[in-house]
Amino acid sequence: MFEYAPAPESRDIVDLKSSYGLFINGEFVDGSGKPFKTVNPATEEKLAEVATASSDDVDRAVQAARKAFGAWSGLPGAERAKYLFRIARIIQERARELAVLESLDNGKPIRESRDVDLPLVAAHFFYYAGWADKLGYAGFGRRTTDGHSGANPRPLGVAGQVIPWNFPLLMLAWKIAPALACGNTVVLKPAETTPLTALLFAEICQQADLPPGVVNIVTGAGETGAAVVAHPDVNKVAFTGSTEVGRVIARTVAGTDKKLTLELGGKAANIVFEDAALDQAVEGIVNGIFFNQGHVCCAGSRLLVQESIQDELLTALKRRLSTLRLGDPLDKNTDIGAINSAEQLAKIRQLSDLGESEGAERWSPACELPAKGYWFPPTLFTGVAQSHAIAREEIFGPVLSVLTFRTPAEAVEKANNTPYGLSAGIWTEKGSRILWMADKLRAGVVWANTFNRFDPTSPFGGYKESGYGREGGLLGLEAYLDV
Ligand code: NAI
Ligand code: MG
Repeated sequence: MFEYAPAPESRDIVDLKSSYGLFINGEFVDGSGKPFKTVNPATEEKLAEVATASSDDVDRAVQAARKAFGAWSGLPGAERAKYLFRIARIIQERARELAVLESLDNGKPIRESRDVDLPLVAAHFFYYAGWADKLGYAGFGRRTTDGHSGANPRPLGVAGQVIPWNFPLLMLAWKIAPALACGNTVVLKPAETTPLTALLFAEICQQADLPPGVVNIVTGAGETGAAVVAHPDVNKVAFTGSTEVGRVIARTVAGTDKKLTLELGGKAANIVFEDAALDQAVEGIVNGIFFNQGHVCCAGSRLLVQESIQDELLTALKRRLSTLRLGDPLDKNTDIGAINSAEQLAKIRQLSDLGESEGAERWSPACELPAKGYWFPPTLFTGVAQSHAIAREEIFGPVLSVLTFRTPAEAVEKANNTPYGLSAGIWTEKGSRILWMADKLRAGVVWANTFNRFDPTSPFGGYKESGYGREGGLLGLEAYLDV
């Protein structure tokens, strides 16, 4: 392997402030809770102090959103679209700044924030901007007897949105773009380890002259999130995060007239048949579980490989893993960045240790970990049984569990043997087998001969404990409309 000289992206483009307030009614204001710090997980360096929103602050944000709702929802869709197109263009103009800040606060490689997250963020705003003046044609309007849309469907009101740390700005885009396009106003809470790009997005809302109160950003930890979800004047709750917190939120919302969408965990099967193009499959497996350090709800964390090609595939996979570069997220050559937090690192370690003690065989390439920061090497487990914790629980890290199968029916049975159902992957040259499998897999997204491909026009969401409701595409509009 060639040695690579470091090629770090400069962080000068980011104007980090020492402290950040809440964004309420178009202005940055102090929070009444105790401020918290956000760190760069690659170095443990403190990046900034961030305000904590108390339930009173959340109440002020919801009131601002309520007040703004009348005028915003009354705007012609084409006028709302202008704001969304403007935001999308500013995101493109400031993409490098946003990407560097995302990598600093989250630990993900700049190659990913620059080439995956940011283009998708802009694409989501462009896509939903395009729908803002066409909602009557989206198929959700009150219909006349001849099946044509009778009127524009109505927005719901104030949306309370709570997002996780794995794709901070992209999850913000998934939540805010459709909400605004449909005429809702929002109060959004970013995750406590990655609040900074949401706060830069607040600045972009100011730059775009978005009317005050249409977007409000409240920072803080779980308590702030709980206050958003429980606020009586919130009409719609959208959450992405752990299944555990999703359950708590479902209980809070039960019995109210709030509309709810939940996008929770996953334990996706990536299924490789003996006739698959193996080199291509190896790339897909790597992208499936080592992209974003495996902090991906739809990660292909269970590799199901047909027994006849197990040895050949594992040899090729191990060879490929030995070439992955782990280290400085701002280095343009880096494939694997830092684990987002000390807590997440502890969880990955604990589940991996459990995998070993339950009898699976652990393997990692020779890989030097930086002395400071939160790091975990790319890891794979062979000899994994269905009953092992590492085959059942979401690890949310760069850890792959390898299982085998003999027949397509067995592959389906094993793939579906999970409480989750967010995504799955199929690798085979046979089109009919792809269709047969896709029909039987209980997963919201099924990729064929690719993995972790996202597109704003395509709905995304889960079966079973992976949640309910869909984001993206036309169905993503439905979640924010009174249909
Ligand atoms: P989490 O579910 O606690 O955090 C997600 C968001 O929910 C954060 O903004 C957090 O502040 C907020 N939150 C926490 N408690 C809340 C409550 N009671 N009410 C309202 N909001 C609340 O997830 P965490 O602890 O960061 O990660 C734990 C595990 O969850 C991970 O190891 C992973 O397995 C899974 N996870 C799944 C994600 C996905 O994309 N589906 C994203 C993040 C985590
Ligand atoms: Mg951070």
